[in-house]
Amino acid sequence: MGFFSSVSNFFFDCGILPWDVLLTLLNLVRRKRRIGHVTPEGHPGYGGHWPEFRPPQEGDSRCSCPALNAMANHGILPRSGRDISFVELNHHIRATYNFGPSFCSFVPHYAARMLKRNYNMDTFNLADLDLHNGIEHDASLFRLDTALEPDQSAKHIPFIEELLESATGKDEKGNDILTTKDLSRILGKRRAVARATNSEFSLSFFHKVFGSSNSSTLLTIFGGRVDDLRSIVLHERIPEGWESRIRQPYGLTMTNFNKTVLTVELGVREKDWEEVAQDAARSRVTPV
Ligand SMILES: *[C@@H]1O[C@H](CO)[C@@H](O)[C@H](O)[C@H]1NC(C)=O
Ligand SMILES: *[C@@H]1O[C@H](CO)[C@@H](O)[C@H](O)[C@H]1NC(C)=O
Repeated sequence: MGFFSSVSNFFFDCGILPWDVLLTLLNLVRRKRRIGHVTPEGHPGYGGHWPEFRPPQEGDSRCSCPALNAMANHGILPRSGRDISFVELNHHIRATYNFGPSFCSFVPHYAARMLKRNYNMDTFNLADLDLHNGIEHDASLFRLDTALEPDQSAKHIPFIEELLESATGKDEKGNDILTTKDLSRILGKRRAVARATNSEFSLSFFHKVFGSSNSSTLLTIFGGRVDDLRSIVLHERIPEGWESRIRQPYGLTMTNFNKTVLTVELGVREKDWEEVAQDAARSRVTPV
């Protein structure tokens, strides 16, 4: 396997960028999908009709990613969260959220490689994705660090509430909207506090970018809309009538996505939160 998989990884990595740039250009010249027709016909969610939501049962596999858990809770992925093929994941992420095909190919390929499995033939359980410092990392917006909460499918409600309450934007109808600045601010706080309170804390540059990517998903695919995000992030449920806020025919490409990722990441100021972090560290060692 070794040699051939390195060769095919090489071609895959080289091929994906030109493909992504091409899709980005095609998006510029082709008409956007009509509102109400973003989810493709024939796929669950077409016309805003999502399959029944059922919370996970004992023994079902879930992970740290609310968007993937939501797909399993609606039966778009197997409700058990088990034996999912990487190929199937690619297809369903694209149709459900309108990420671009290059992005949808990159993520499951990356996950397969991380788990040392074969993209075309093997399957995974959602919980497998939470290998620490693979994709999953510390200073999450929605979860306590692995050292404090080994089950990364467990939501940390105070973090989620704080995130949703931190929105400073409004849309034309007066709905609360999370902005790029809001996300940079809260990421800075999470990193500073986690660094001060978790003795096993680690966060590489690569994982910082991953964290900013999650934030950018909230801003792009979900348009920063707090009412929709409350359902997705808190209940891991797709709101009835929802469709992706990305209407481009070739979906959200990595080129466009990376622009938002960079803006979020460059706006993070961990230093601003030093005092808050010290206070948090002190209150952890002082028994109450
Ligand atoms: C980003 O998503 C991954 C996968 O769900 C998660 O483990 C990680 O903690 C998230 N990062 C942030 C900053 O929310
Ligand atoms: C976007 O960022 C990812 C992760 O940092 C990188 O692997 C990819 O090459 C970038 N893609 C483009 C099109 O800039």
